[in-house]
Amino acid sequence: MARSVLVTGGNRGIGYSIATAFAAAGDKVAVTYRSGEPPEGFLGVKCDVTDTEQVAAAFDKIEAEHGPVEVLVANAGITRDTLLLRMSDDDWDAVIQTNLTGSFRVAKRAAKGMLRMRKGRIVFISSVVGMLGSPGQVNYAASKSGLIGMARSMARELGSRGITANVVAPGFVETDMTAVLPEETQKQYLSQIPLGRFGLTEEIANAVKWIASEEAGYITGAVIPVDGGIGMGN
Ligand SMILES: NC(=O)c1ccc[n+]([C@@H]2O[C@H](COP(=O)([O-])OP(=O)(O)OC[C@H]3O[C@@H](n4cnc5c(N)ncnc54)[C@H](OP(=O)(O)O)[C@@H]3O)[C@@H](O)[C@H]2O)c1
Repeated sequence: MARSVLVTGGNRGIGYSIATAFAAAGDKVAVTYRSGEPPEGFLGVKCDVTDTEQVAAAFDKIEAEHGPVEVLVANAGITRDTLLLRMSDDDWDAVIQTNLTGSFRVAKRAAKGMLRMRKGRIVFISSVVGMLGSPGQVNYAASKSGLIGMARSMARELGSRGITANVVAPGFVETDMTAVLPEETQKQYLSQIPLGRFGLTEEIANAVKWIASEEAGYITGAVIPVDGGIGMGN
């Protein structure tokens, strides 16, 4: 049966591929967007995940159109890279507010409906950087490893109600987020990836679709790396 799926930041990049994969499988997919027009083929809900009222309004709209969210993919994320001593409080706060607190906000709101339904799938999009660390990404890495503790706590709290909470940790994927990195940094990453190439957004989407599927029903609190092997052993 078609499920009500929400992908935050589903208007472009990895989120767009995730939304497309669920829609292709026949699910009812809502995506958040912040400006402009949402992409065709989805229910677009205007929502900045740093704003609790916008999150509440987005869920109200989705519930009215698609029913309670059964699959949540907390994907919206930003970077504000700079070295530690140059990192301002604002650089720190913006990244934590969006990547970690934003994910908390949407998961908390989604869990309300999932608890009533006694089923649900929560998927957080972390990063290999959350486990490996990365120079210039103190804020980003903290936000991404924070998602793991958060997911595992939710897995323990919500598991008895048939709700799973998992993390997908991509490596380097070609999107707007990585396009801005200097060529030298990209080359350096590439040299460390056992599979010898960057990831495709569709490859992240495949893992997310699977972890949210019926087949993955006995997996919770897991971190699934989709990183060409760069994070092996972490
Ligand atoms: N690309 C990679 O190599 C890579 C690797 C590991 C993990 N990730 C993670 O994967 C996720 C998607 O990354 P991406 O590469 O697809 O990035 P992207 O192309 O830069 O897209 C980011 C998405 O997040 C949305 N977003 C940002 N701040 C938001 C906010 N406050 N409220 C709502 N939406 C917001 C953006 O919406 P707007 O269009 O409105 O800006 C956009 O849809 C992120 O969590 C990122 O950290 C990416």
